[in-house]
Amino acid sequence: MNNYKTIIADAKIVSELFEFEKICFEHTADRFPKRNLKHLIESPTSRTLIIRDENGQICAEIIGLIRHFKVASGRIYKIGVRPDMKKRGIGSYLIQTVEKWFKKSGMKKSCAEVRESNMASRNMFEKNGYTNTGLRIFYYAGGENAVKYWKTL
Ligand SMILES: CC(C)(COP(=O)(O)OP(=O)(O)OC[C@H]1O[C@@H](n2cnc3c(N)ncnc32)[C@H](O)[C@@H]1OP(=O)(O)O)[C@@H](O)C(=O)NCCC(=O)NCCS
Repeated sequence: MNNYKTIIADAKIVSELFEFEKICFEHTADRFPKRNLKHLIESPTSRTLIIRDENGQICAEIIGLIRHFKVASGRIYKIGVRPDMKKRGIGSYLIQTVEKWFKKSGMKKSCAEVRESNMASRNMFEKNGYTNTGLRIFYYAGGENAVKYWKTL
């Protein structure tokens, strides 16, 4: 899956991205307020990538963070594909694209947290080389556990 063009988001698309997240994320807690989206778009340690469909509408998003911890590591903070565009490899393509930015930024590892019940996302991360390293109990608002995934880049 490499026919899609990723675009680095800028602050002009905050409202559009906000609307996209309403369609894409089932849990309201997983949708970000506009001010958070703007901050993430503008922060030098964060990158928001989007893909547009043939009509110019946003159909996928990923937000990656770089962290200069003891082991420099990227974090996939958010990923979403519009329901009608799922299962075409777009999520995997976005992961691979953000990992390239992580590597270019000197990150040695990549991680993500996923709702324990979210088998689509868990399978996607596992298919892309991420290892389940255990649960983070009561991680999400409402009490759902997260599975923590890590990958060496
Ligand atoms: C999770 C999500 C991003 C996957 O995006 P996608 O573009 O459909 O993923 P891909 O097409 O790259 O799929 C890669 C692999 O993930 C797994 N997968 C994807 N959707 C799945 C599903 N509904 N059920 C089970 N496994 C699934 C499969 O192993 C798939 O590989 P395959 O197609 O060879 O079987 C998408 O379902 C989504 O946006 N969900 C709603 C938002 C969300 O939950 N985000 C993740 C928060 S951490």
